[in-house]
Amino acid sequence: DFLKLLDYTPEQIDYLLRLAAQLKAEKKAGIPHRLCEGKNVALIFEKTSTRTRSSFEVAAHDLGMGSTYLDSTGSQIGKKESIADTARVLSRYLDGIMIRTFGHDRVEELAKWADIPVINALTDLLHPCQVLTDLLTIEEYKGKNLKGLKMAYVGDGNNMTNSFLYGCAKVGMTFVAATPEDYRPDETVFKNALEDAKETGAELSLVTDPKEAVKDADIVVTDTWASMGQEAEHEARKKIFAPYQVNKELLKGADKRVIVMHCLPAYRGEEITEEVLEANADVIFDEAENRLHTQKAIMALTMAD
Ligand code: CP
Ligand code: NVA
Repeated sequence: DFLKLLDYTPEQIDYLLRLAAQLKAEKKAGIPHRLCEGKNVALIFEKTSTRTRSSFEVAAHDLGMGSTYLDSTGSQIGKKESIADTARVLSRYLDGIMIRTFGHDRVEELAKWADIPVINALTDLLHPCQVLTDLLTIEEYKGKNLKGLKMAYVGDGNNMTNSFLYGCAKVGMTFVAATPEDYRPDETVFKNALEDAKETGAELSLVTDPKEAVKDADIVVTDTWASMGQEAEHEARKKIFAPYQVNKELLKGADKRVIVMHCLPAYRGEEITEEVLEANADVIFDEAENRLHTQKAIMALTMAD
């Protein structure tokens, strides 16, 4: 299973990144890598997606796999049929399941009942595929030694922030999240990450002042102020998060060679200005592309014979 980055050793995370980089180079060189020939994966979406769906479908195809798309309106998943029964049925047809859903417990439940690997493609709590991708992208721009780099996250303490805590703990990167007091990342995730960081020496901290977080940062990251499922709070959140916008003024305090990342979709004029997004478009769209390569590595390592 690939449910959260915390479950892996630093060596396993590095191995995933090395394989993703290799598969990327092979794809660019036109070298086929059908590592999962003849297998099939289910792609379950209980929330919407552009990047995750298309990159998983292409990744599966490149690996020689078939894919089956299921969502909550066109399938029995959700109200009509339990996660446990769905897991047992899908295990009879397929070689792996990717799921994007609301509560993280749904992914854990699916993994518990399925006989085949389960990949977490975003829950309310975590987005590990995206953060693994971001680590690959940071390597491409800042070099392979991630230790010694400082990442600042500015905005809502959400599934991305939680996964960054786990990811940075694994690779030894300094991580500071600036969020409003009431919108900090998950308390248990923070505790787990702090414990895990002892192995790599990563420094993880939570603050409320964006300027403090961004000071001398090599990487500044943000994400939407209202995640999927929080649409009704969007207007109220715009007011709460206004001091947390990533803009040119805020970036003055960062390292001169700072890169800005965003998992997309972005709300220009809210969490990030048009100007900052466009100035970092190369990084941000490489980041989007890299979903394809890292997810291929995840599927190959969980599903290939
Ligand atoms: N970043 C990301 O997961 O994008 P989608 O919601 O479009 O899949
Ligand atoms: N935090 C965002 C990430 C989208 C990829 C959300 O959950 O909607």
